[in-house]
Amino acid sequence: MADLDGNNEQKQKEYYTDTPQTAPNFFLKGSHQYDWGLQNRLAHIFNPESGRTIMLAFDHGYFMGPTTGLERVDQTILPLEPYCDCLMLTRGIQRSIIPASTQKAIALRASGGTSMVSTIDEWEGEIGGQPAKLARPGYEPLSNEHLAVDIDEAIRLNASVLAVQVFIGSQHERQSLQNLTNLIDAAARYGIAVMGVVAVGRAMERTAKYFRMATRLMAELGCHMVKCYHIDDGFDTITSCCPVPIVIAGGKKRPEKDALQMAFDACAQGASGVDMGRNIFQADAPVPMMKAVRGVVHEGMSASDAFELYEQLKSEESS
Ligand code: R5P
Repeated sequence: MADLDGNNEQKQKEYYTDTPQTAPNFFLKGSHQYDWGLQNRLAHIFNPESGRTIMLAFDHGYFMGPTTGLERVDQTILPLEPYCDCLMLTRGIQRSIIPASTQKAIALRASGGTSMVSTIDEWEGEIGGQPAKLARPGYEPLSNEHLAVDIDEAIRLNASVLAVQVFIGSQHERQSLQNLTNLIDAAARYGIAVMGVVAVGRAMERTAKYFRMATRLMAELGCHMVKCYHIDDGFDTITSCCPVPIVIAGGKKRPEKDALQMAFDACAQGASGVDMGRNIFQADAPVPMMKAVRGVVHEGMSASDAFELYEQLKSEESS
């Protein structure tokens, strides 16, 4: 414990009277006027040196159950944890599997309430003992989500960002936008960030026009970051007119080389990183893939160099 006298007779005091106090800027797009706690949480998600993030998404179970690669999160995801910046997950997996000693930022899935079964267009089975077939064209109840985590719980789980799905153009557009704004208002009281996730579905085309509208709309409503899919044509126009950072979802599993190319293109076209799941945990060699994605996002590697790294690490792993 320090004694009560702060003066050290041996050392001259220095007040730096000729040096103005520095006014540090904040590195992240659109985020320079936020309060300290929110900026600090964002600096935990995004690497202040590269300005980008690698979020590892494995929240799929909230509507898909144990999808391929997530049957045993302890076996498949924990080995990847050291190489990402942020873990995107549900509270159930966070509490049951993720060690509380993790240093990674937490992106907590905060909307839910529907399942992949409810999106089936046709159903065949029995009703009252008789064979039956139901057709439900255009039926899209996946969008019928509500907020599935309250703000006290998010604080208990030390979330840096809360993720909410937004279904623009769907049957439940208004409801999902209300989920978003309710969550933003609740999270704002504590300096927690909110990430709007652009959902895609039958009513929602994967075009630059659609994604420009959806991402901008969410940013205007107060999202601190947006998750969107990458598209080949016009992705740079989406990032350009969205005033907050965009991270890309990986989407369905594709060949590793293509996934690395997509991550590279997205970053070159203004994305602030990736929020990738299946293309990492369903890769032939997930840890090498994670390291290769890291090369692209944080170390400025080309997609072909990153793929070479992937192949090399994969063969080292199997030898
Ligand atoms: C989907 O709604 C989930 O929230 C995932 O986080 C998201 O789809 C990203 O995962 P993937 O890269 O597998 O598409």
